[in-house]
Amino acid sequence: MTFQLDRSTPGPLFEKLKGEIVRQIRLGMLRPGDRLPPTRKLAEDLGVNRGTVSTAYEELHTDGVLTSHVGRGTFVAEDLSMAAILPADNASGFRWADHFAGFEPSTPHAILRAAVPAFDGEDVVSFAGNVPDPALFPTDAFRKALDAVLREEGNALLSYGPPQGHPAFLAFLHEYLANDRGLPLREEELMVVNGSQHAIDLIARALLRPGDTVLVEEPTYYGAAELFRGYGARLVGVPMDAEGLRVEALEAVLTRERPKLVYVMPTFQNPTGGMLAPQRRRDLVRLTRRYQVPLVEDDFDGELYFDAPPPPPLRADAHGQGVIYIGTPSKMLFPGLRVGWVVAEEPVIERLSRIKQMTDLSGSQLLQAALAHFARGGGWRKHLRKVRSAYGERVERLLAALTRHMPPGVSWTRPRGGLSLMVTLPEGLDSDEILRDAAGTGVIFTPGRLFFVEGGDRHLRLSFGNVATADVEEGVKRLARAVKRARSGSKRERRRTRGMALPPV
Ligand SMILES: Cc1ncc(COP(=O)(O)O)c(C=O)c1O
Repeated sequence: MTFQLDRSTPGPLFEKLKGEIVRQIRLGMLRPGDRLPPTRKLAEDLGVNRGTVSTAYEELHTDGVLTSHVGRGTFVAEDLSMAAILPADNASGFRWADHFAGFEPSTPHAILRAAVPAFDGEDVVSFAGNVPDPALFPTDAFRKALDAVLREEGNALLSYGPPQGHPAFLAFLHEYLANDRGLPLREEELMVVNGSQHAIDLIARALLRPGDTVLVEEPTYYGAAELFRGYGARLVGVPMDAEGLRVEALEAVLTRERPKLVYVMPTFQNPTGGMLAPQRRRDLVRLTRRYQVPLVEDDFDGELYFDAPPPPPLRADAHGQGVIYIGTPSKMLFPGLRVGWVVAEEPVIERLSRIKQMTDLSGSQLLQAALAHFARGGGWRKHLRKVRSAYGERVERLLAALTRHMPPGVSWTRPRGGLSLMVTLPEGLDSDEILRDAAGTGVIFTPGRLFFVEGGDRHLRLSFGNVATADVEEGVKRLARAVKRARSGSKRERRRTRGMALPPV
């Protein structure tokens, strides 16, 4: 947990600290119940008087933002009211903030923007976005597909379409999932959505009520975690090791927590790039079925393997029972299509499909038809061959550079697919602080706490998909220097640049 005080503007430091704490609460970086650092420690970290921190804490206490418990410390109030953290009236004179329901959603953009100091965006190596490389997109081939389907199907493609998706795309998906992903299914078990994030949202709406518990891998995908929290769910993280989710720890958690949902990424997990071991896959399916807990399987990048194809989805293991499978072309092809798919038992598809119609009426028939055409013409497979080898090369470069430059005590995962890996720092180091330093010297990444239900400060995610192979080495060198500086407690390098460029999610 780190706070920034803007010393370039006039005003008392305790007011600035109050503003910073409230800002972090509004962004969701600090949550009700979170513990704040002891006054002495925070004063030391910020280089201010201890009295400055005490005054800020006391005033926020009076405002109902913080609470304190003798001997235990200072916390963000559990029963925090929105009024206590509202910004002052805005220029329009209408207090919109009074009307927003719930807490401000926090996005990685907002969090990174808050955490990263100024840099001009040029000469910055960004390991921050779990995204594919636009330079590899098959734009021309896709344009031809768009043109072809518009010529063939004409006006019908520009209308609303059937709720489950465009028939040609559904037919293609059916074959693709059965033949390429080893997931046999019936027609009624498939629907198309606007990206897998949309699928997670529909599932949360269908299955969760405020106060429900969701089990996730620890660490997990921030976008899903934040969405579940947004629906009022409580997250419980189940630890992982080199073989993925520790399924043997799961049974006790299932008994104790009685979750409404288990959300996992068994193949090339985000952020670790890890793969759930075959026996654990079977055990996970068996356990969640025994406890009658829906298992959501996010297969967002299973096709991006570097050497051998991954095992079939959990849903195939489960013979279709109790598992909701989600897929997307966003990582293997490109994310701009906003297309995804869900495979689940018929009542689930029917329910999700109704919620979907309520919110978006229909997906884009044009884009689904074009994607079906592109895939049937061989474009999808061809593209996959190309990106598997490009990302495979990048990860090899990255692993070699980490070995060459990182100081002892730093470790990392070794993914065999996907777009990201996770680095673990030695005890006592904080990836937020390293990010601030590193960004000033031209490298950024995603700090670990975004992926953890609790803690995560010692971890960071490096996404290599959108880093040119030639830049990997330099990026790692800059990062390794920041880690070494943090280890030796030495001063940050002077920041070279001003301005702000936003890293991708
Ligand atoms: C694990 C995971 N699931 C789902 C998504 C959402 O992808 P999309 O909505 O583009 O399909 C992402 C995007 O980063 C992701 O990392």
